[in-house]
Amino acid sequence: MEKTIKTIGVLTSGGDAPGMNAAVRAVVRTGLVSGLRVVGIKQGYQGLITKNIHEMDAFSVTDITHRGGTILQSARCPEFREEEGMQKAIAVCHEIGIEGIVVIGGDGSFRGASDLSKRGINCVGVPGTIDNDIACTDYTIGYDTALNTARDMVDRLLDTTASHNRCTVVEVMGRGCGDIALNVGIACGATSILVPEVPVNFETDVIDKIQDAKRMGKTHFIIIVAEGVGGAEKLARSIEERTGIASRATILGHVQRGGTPTVRDRVMATRMGNYAVELLVNGKSDRVVAYKNSKIVDFDIQEALQHRKEFAIDTYKMAQTISL
Ligand code: ADP
Ligand code: F6P
Repeated sequence: MEKTIKTIGVLTSGGDAPGMNAAVRAVVRTGLVSGLRVVGIKQGYQGLITKNIHEMDAFSVTDITHRGGTILQSARCPEFREEEGMQKAIAVCHEIGIEGIVVIGGDGSFRGASDLSKRGINCVGVPGTIDNDIACTDYTIGYDTALNTARDMVDRLLDTTASHNRCTVVEVMGRGCGDIALNVGIACGATSILVPEVPVNFETDVIDKIQDAKRMGKTHFIIIVAEGVGGAEKLARSIEERTGIASRATILGHVQRGGTPTVRDRVMATRMGNYAVELLVNGKSDRVVAYKNSKIVDFDIQEALQHRKEFAIDTYKMAQTISL
């Protein structure tokens, strides 16, 4: 049943992502111009349980779109997954008067949002994660910035790799999703890209590719490996043993989560945050905002969680075919 709400909260949950601040700003400003009271919930669901909640006004979100991280901070909160933790959070919502929440995060955060919705707190999810691993949407906030950060790092590694005629294995983030690896690999002209979606054949995908390129005159090599495949150090050692090419490993790690958000991340986050509040204003709940076919749309959260993300296998094959 649809209900009119007067107070909404906004929280960021799971891994932080550049652009989350622009989404928070859009939620706060859209809420305020819609006549709502808006509160900021700190540290994700943790702050909902511990009542780490602050009134937001138009100036609470001034000058934040260019900042990485999230002014609301983020957390993983195992307690919230238990019924007792959930009930504590609901009690806090009732005490503060929170009737709707915009949850900016990933799939796990949306599961929590759906659980809250089913218990009477209207929730809308906004996809925020650098991994681009949310199946219902073509885009997640933070992905573009992470791509460009990783691209910049690999460009630098290429300089030193070429100067020493070496091979560098670079591990980028993405536990279950190879999107960062694939697109950074293409952008940086990697000799080979290893992703969790495609079984890895060390001989054909790595050694043969390096040997073939070497025969054609190539002197230095970048191998991009996604976190979900892992083993960058071991891979570098094996490449050196098998090919005689001096090899090094670099794990980019959390540097990919920080930094100034790109224009794309800021604008997409703003549009998605604005849309999320419009859903709440229109009495909607248990929805997630998505970007599909160049449009901002929304799905039922449970339906969205059933979607299976399709890996861009044709693009992957193309990259592996043309790379040296
Ligand atoms: P992400 O949102 O990026 O996928 P997590 O999976 O760590 O990150 O989820 C973030 C938080 O969402 C968790 O720490 C927990 O508080 C909450 N959460 C995750 N899964 C569930 C679930 N199945 N039910 C309720 N809450 C959940
Ligand atoms: O979800 C984004 C992500 O950065 C993943 O790529 C990575 O596997 C994970 O978060 C790391 O999370 P944590 O914050 O627990 O180190």
